[in-house]
Amino acid sequence: MKKLQVVTGGTSGMGLSTAIALGKLGPVLVGGRNEKRLADAIAKLEERGIEAYGKTVDISDRVSLDEFAAYAASIAPIGNVVNAAGVDAGGGDLIVKINMVGTVNFVEAFLPYLEEGSALVNYSSITGYFVQPTPEERAIWDDPNAPTFFEKAKAAIDVREVPEAMRAMGEDYQYYPISKTFTQYYTRANTRRFGKKGCRIFSIAPGAFDTPMLREASDETVAGIERGTAFGRLGEPGEMAEFIVRLLEPGLEYLTGVDLVLDGGKFGMTMAKQLD
Ligand SMILES: NC(=O)c1ccc[n+]([C@@H]2O[C@H](COP(=O)([O-])OP(=O)(O)OC[C@H]3O[C@@H](n4cnc5c(N)ncnc54)[C@H](OP(=O)(O)O)[C@@H]3O)[C@@H](O)[C@H]2O)c1
Repeated sequence: MKKLQVVTGGTSGMGLSTAIALGKLGPVLVGGRNEKRLADAIAKLEERGIEAYGKTVDISDRVSLDEFAAYAASIAPIGNVVNAAGVDAGGGDLIVKINMVGTVNFVEAFLPYLEEGSALVNYSSITGYFVQPTPEERAIWDDPNAPTFFEKAKAAIDVREVPEAMRAMGEDYQYYPISKTFTQYYTRANTRRFGKKGCRIFSIAPGAFDTPMLREASDETVAGIERGTAFGRLGEPGEMAEFIVRLLEPGLEYLTGVDLVLDGGKFGMTMAKQLD
């Protein structure tokens, strides 16, 4: 029996492409908040001959995610689970609730259902490398299931400034990059926990991919991002999907506990003066 592949945030952009690509490994369950986007995503999967399931879910709500995970387990044994849900706008509360609390909820809801050989993949971001937690923030991050986690994590970011390099992306970039640094940190923090079950956990850090999220930026900002890559272009969502599926296929069972970058050279070009 082929195992179920699960993608939250699987109704748009890279999550939808990931769901389509995972169709070669088994039936696919997608989740997102919006019913119309969910129905459209299921139709796109079915058009490609994929056995598709869908259920609305808000990953910032633990109860909603617990119901979603229980539904997943009722379909078939669970293989791989990918959390592509994320936001880069809407204010600090929303960003922290979805990108940080939502990531914790996702791991906690699915880990009990994962079996030896399963993998959990979180979407982080290249922006997560441009900021680092303070010692106080790390102490908060080391207790992600504390009832006060949201309030404390958000309060610590409230006093941050938008990093110089990301000013053009708007005020929410006070919250977004550090929320993704958390995703990277929290993923690594779960390495042993997953390893004990014979499961893998890793995150992937997209650079700039052509999705509805990125297209919210101005044309000028997008052009600047394109110039900052080796090939002068954004990534295609299908390229990210292909990357993830290759990491999940047999042969890479030793790969866990890391954040992997797919960014058309953006990070490398930022970190080292280029030898033209
Ligand atoms: N695009 C880029 O260049 C880029 C770069 C770095 C990192 N990333 C990260 O990559 C991931 C995918 O980004 P994308 O550009 O493909 O985004 P997108 O096209 O905006 O899609 C985001 C998806 O997340 C879902 N979602 C948002 N909040 C949710 C919630 N609370 N619960 C459940 N689902 C939720 C959305 O559906 P609903 O709105 O219907 O819920 C949608 O399916 C995100 O984590 C993003 O931060 C993107």
